[in-house]
Amino acid sequence: MKQRMAVAPTVAPRNLTELEPLIRERAIDILENLPVGETFNWVQEVSIELTSRMLATLFGFPYEERRKLVYWSDLATAVPEVTGDTSIDMTQRYNELMQAAAAFYQLWMERANEPPKFDLISMLIHNEETRRMNEDPELFLGTILLLIVGGNDTTRNSISGGVVALNQFPDQYQKLRDNPGLIPNMVAEIVRWQTPVIHMRRTALADIELGGKKIREGDKVVMWYLSGNRDENEFADADKLIIDRPNARGHVSFGFGVHRCMGNRLAEMQLRILWEEIMKRFHTVELVGDVERLPNNFIRGIRNVPVRLHPL
Ligand code: HEM
Repeated sequence: MKQRMAVAPTVAPRNLTELEPLIRERAIDILENLPVGETFNWVQEVSIELTSRMLATLFGFPYEERRKLVYWSDLATAVPEVTGDTSIDMTQRYNELMQAAAAFYQLWMERANEPPKFDLISMLIHNEETRRMNEDPELFLGTILLLIVGGNDTTRNSISGGVVALNQFPDQYQKLRDNPGLIPNMVAEIVRWQTPVIHMRRTALADIELGGKKIREGDKVVMWYLSGNRDENEFADADKLIIDRPNARGHVSFGFGVHRCMGNRLAEMQLRILWEEIMKRFHTVELVGDVERLPNNFIRGIRNVPVRLHPL
């Protein structure tokens, strides 16, 4: 494996448009340093690497410590109810999450004494509604973890899922080689096919009838995004990745309503740029072994995607 020179960006972005060249620069850096001719885990070297660099930028978090964000994100969803693993040491988990809280309190205090910047911590401090968020520890850690998990696992698993899907459906990989202009639509289709967040739950505020079923006020309702995205009434051949599917953008992977994912454009941008740069370099990212999945009923995750690269 080549030594990766993950240098921190010299110019910090000031808005979303300025993120595009930064993401491209990082995607290129990651792809150019991959080991051609060797088998390696795409999840570690590409999916996690790109999303952790992005997260560090979004938070203004120390760049060289960015893998801590990945660790905390994984820890946040590591509870027995979600993973089925009852051997998790919950005291140790709590202590480590407290370390995350401490690191973000420190960042918060630093930003509070600085002029406003284009990062999420700075934006929260300089907003009237959220500037006192640090006074409520549960709200503070909950919000930070939501942002870390939201920006991390989901995009990561879409990047990994895309490679798995294109290998599973080689006719679609060929379609992509013939027409890389399909990438934006393919990104939506990958996010549908992968469905990185399996479900969310709501509590009904009023009685309602939905699809012939009565839901009473106070009922807890689980919204299975995975099932919605496989609904044959909406998506023909729903289990298949079809990169030019006309209604690919009709998926529910980002949720809907007031809580619809606030990072959806950023996630799509990362995926689009990454695939644009992959197609400029590699004929095939070939899956050469078994895919190892994450035991988790909330995040549809992938741990290991063994691949070999075939340059153009
Ligand atoms: C493919 C990538 C992504 C997927 C599939 C995804 C999925 C989701 C889903 C299903 C929700 C819940 C919607 C609901 O409750 O109705 C959500 C909310 C959220 N996402 Fe994402 N997400 C992705 C990327 C991102 C990124 C890159 C960020 C950036 C930090 C992000 C930040 C958030 C936040 C903060 C919320 C909470 C919004 C709210 O409650 O108002 N997500 N996301």
